[in-house]
Amino acid sequence: MVETIRQPRSMYDFKPDESLEPAEMYRQLVEAARALTDGESDEVANMANVAALIGEFVPRLNWAGFYRVIRNGTEKELVLGPFVGRPACIRIPFGQGVCGVAAASGETQLVADVHAFPGHIACDAASQSELVVPVIRGGEVMAVIDCDSPELGRFSEQDAAGIEALAALLSDRI
Ligand code: SME
Repeated sequence: MVETIRQPRSMYDFKPDESLEPAEMYRQLVEAARALTDGESDEVANMANVAALIGEFVPRLNWAGFYRVIRNGTEKELVLGPFVGRPACIRIPFGQGVCGVAAASGETQLVADVHAFPGHIACDAASQSELVVPVIRGGEVMAVIDCDSPELGRFSEQDAAGIEALAALLSDRI
């Protein structure tokens, strides 16, 4: 007789059902992020877990993670934070690249073809489209959430709304 070995489900087992509609997938992603960051004050731990959750929930990405706004004298720049994917550019000046424009403008950047975006910074040559959402606290951009896909036109307004809901949750958690 063959014995069935059951894998225990841990409290961190948030793997979603792959047939979920995007709206429901993002609702579950935000709820998982809420549960994992609730009561935790360490922003690095929270960004690390949320980057991992995006990687688990959002299909067809090659990179997902954070760039944090850091003051460098009188200038502000973006510095790489927790992510899933290949090693990436460490520092990005405000206003440069998709991330720098999102940080400087405080507005979501939904880019169907990164090669058509002036000043796009290529970290992973596989990236074809990109979604960058600022995390704002008290009117100031604290960080951006960056999602890259190897597919052209991967991101829709629904993806933007979903990652914006995640950014709103993280406003006082990172
Ligand atoms: N492509 C981004 C740089 C970050 S990597 O994609 C991880 C940009 O243009 O800002």
